[in-house]
Amino acid sequence: MLNQDSKIGVIGAGAMGAGIAQVAASAGHTVYLFDSRHDAAAQALEAMGKSLQKLEEKGKIGQGMGNILISRIQAVPSLDAMDDADLVIEAIVEQLPAKQEVFSKLETVVSPNCIIATNTSSLSVTAIASACKKAERVIGLHFFNPATLMPLVEVIPAVQTEEQLPAACVALMKAWKKVPVIAKDTPGFIVNRLARSFYGESIKIYEEGMADMPTIDWALKTYGGFRMGPFELMDLIGNDVNYTVTETVWTQMYFDSRYRPSLTQKKMVESKRFGRKSGRGYYNYAEGAVNTAPVEDHELGKKIFDRVIAMLINEAVDALYLRIATREELDLAMTKGVNYPKGLLAWCDEIGPKEVLRRMDELFDRFRDDRYRASVGLREL
Ligand SMILES: NC(=O)c1ccc[n+]([C@@H]2O[C@H](COP(=O)([O-])OP(=O)(O)OC[C@H]3O[C@@H](n4cnc5c(N)ncnc54)[C@H](O)[C@@H]3O)[C@@H](O)[C@H]2O)c1
Repeated sequence: MLNQDSKIGVIGAGAMGAGIAQVAASAGHTVYLFDSRHDAAAQALEAMGKSLQKLEEKGKIGQGMGNILISRIQAVPSLDAMDDADLVIEAIVEQLPAKQEVFSKLETVVSPNCIIATNTSSLSVTAIASACKKAERVIGLHFFNPATLMPLVEVIPAVQTEEQLPAACVALMKAWKKVPVIAKDTPGFIVNRLARSFYGESIKIYEEGMADMPTIDWALKTYGGFRMGPFELMDLIGNDVNYTVTETVWTQMYFDSRYRPSLTQKKMVESKRFGRKSGRGYYNYAEGAVNTAPVEDHELGKKIFDRVIAMLINEAVDALYLRIATREELDLAMTKGVNYPKGLLAWCDEIGPKEVLRRMDELFDRFRDDRYRASVGLREL
């Protein structure tokens, strides 16, 4: 179905599309790269050439490899140039109507056997597929940012997807040296669903006045071994991007209070404090700016970590209970997609499900908020 000779189309030459094109070229494929913005694909190729050259200079890739990779990618002026592609991966703006329009147009160009994938982070793959006459050829291939470095790819079959297609995509992603996991087409798939409480619960702890942001970041790094604290990470991702993902997941989950976005983050977006990219977010990134130091109180730090990790584990156990993915895939997704120090289900074993349940029930009793309901899966464990 798909092999090393398959021709790959990539639509959208932004951060993700350019990265995916490079990954496919590194695996030896001929790649067509298209962007509706004039010259965007050519500019992306130019930027890629420069970064590959730097890698060559540092000895991270072989001499001449940059040119070889670039020569495999063609910036094409229209979708029509993708007529002999075997797989097309769409990575345009995260808007359902825009994606549906591209999918229905693409279907008039490519062969009947061409597979069409979307890199959507939070939209329904099933809804995107519905724009195609031959919807069984559509699937989600969700890469993580930066696509050239992050190993995880969530493979998401839509309701309509042909039965053999996920396995074929898993094999291809392995050939691309990625770590594929198959996830159900549900809001946020695996990573963007499970990770919500890392941000949401941390913001809630801040809103309650239990600790300030630097202290919460310190607690999760110190007691959890996370590489970055939630506020540091939200500033890196961009508060606008992070808020939109939360709001989308929450809306699609029929306003389940577990995924409820927070006013604190909304205010960040309204004031354009997007994070590192705008120079200010939860922290100030201006030159010479001094940010508050954390209160390194052991008891408080432990309390913060214990609460956030209980919420994260509860979410992972619930996803397992609802068969979003297998136990192995749920854990792989968090370690390979967002660099968690360990999988959440392995963490559950370590802390003990009984203790996690005790913490959840305590939170529920305290707040009387459905947000803290323990998963039936956790209770059964
Ligand atoms: N940025 C991330 O961290 C990340 C991670 C995983 C998945 N995604 C998903 O990947 C997709 C792209 O995200 P991004 O961060 O690369 O966005 P981006 O804004 O960097 O790039 C999008 C590109 O698509 C182009 N485009 C817009 N409409 C188009 C159309 N109709 N036809 C062709 N090109 C079009 C734009 O000109 C732009 O260059 C989104 O669906 C996003 O949710 C993003």
